[in-house]
Amino acid sequence: MDSLKNRNFLTFKDFSEEELTYLLDLAAKFKDMKKKGIRHDHQLSGKNIALIFEKTSTRTRCSFEVAAHDLGMHTTYLDPSGSQIGKKESIEDTASVLGRMFDGIEYRGYGQELVEQLAKYAGVPVWNGLTNEYHPTQVMADMMTMIEQFGDLKGRKIVYMGDARYNMGNSLMLGCAKMGIDFTAGAPKQYFPAKEIVDLSMSFAKKSGSTILLETDPVKAVQGADVVYTDVWVSMGEPDSIWEERIRDLTPYKVTMDLMKKAKPTAVFMHCLPAFHDLKTKIGAQMGKKFNIKDMEVTDEVFNAYRTVLFDEAENRMHTIKAIMAATLGYED
Ligand code: CP
Ligand code: NVA
Repeated sequence: MDSLKNRNFLTFKDFSEEELTYLLDLAAKFKDMKKKGIRHDHQLSGKNIALIFEKTSTRTRCSFEVAAHDLGMHTTYLDPSGSQIGKKESIEDTASVLGRMFDGIEYRGYGQELVEQLAKYAGVPVWNGLTNEYHPTQVMADMMTMIEQFGDLKGRKIVYMGDARYNMGNSLMLGCAKMGIDFTAGAPKQYFPAKEIVDLSMSFAKKSGSTILLETDPVKAVQGADVVYTDVWVSMGEPDSIWEERIRDLTPYKVTMDLMKKAKPTAVFMHCLPAFHDLKTKIGAQMGKKFNIKDMEVTDEVFNAYRTVLFDEAENRMHTIKAIMAATLGYED
């Protein structure tokens, strides 16, 4: 395998199974070193990275910051109001400026074309921290967590319930197709991923030996699942006015204990987080009151039953992001 030095990490389309496996192995090594207190800041010490967030974040931002610091690097955070990007300065010019100062750039924002453009003009590695279309660093953490749970990935089955045509559905489908994991989207037809991304995933799946299925019946969808996965029904950047329609359309796809029982007995529940599993958030409380509900995409019971897996998954964001940054900045294992 060629070195991953100077590569961008924008979507799974660009990576082979071998490269993704390398990154997952490296993440596991970093996790082990961190747990044992073995420092790993000697190779990338003194490098600088920019973290651009045009949408808010807890996990992704903290993962990039902690991972960068563990690797000996410095970070500069540009928040949704703190940069000129797209408002007073084009992405192209911003990329040219940042590329002169930083060794790598993380970008979270809206359209995928923005992060692609940033990568085109920056001249340093660019990492996708979430766009409307893709969230590949999340799926790396999901796969790392699956390896920890099951010991392998090939031949496993992930079922994604809910809004499957957005960043999480798309990236999980592509990631599964690359890694030989069977993927099923359980959703109403209008929430299925775009045909173009389904076709592409099917072509990758053919090579890796996995299957890609779209299923409107939630019970049929979860049969044989090793992982039942869901995400919020309304994503960042979508209007509040859409909640009512989403609650109506997606409630049949809510992950409940009854649904979990239809999956494999060894199945686990996963979620990229944040999750609406109770009314302890501002939006959760508002929606609870307005629509007389006590949870949304997942019940509190399911969430609590799989807490350990969910917070392993969140922790693994940091280890996998560290591996991606390290490998693309030239860290030698
Ligand atoms: N899962 C995830 O990306 O979380 P944040 O929005 O908190 O970064
Ligand atoms: N689909 C969600 C993912 C959050 C990590 C969003 O885009 O808001």
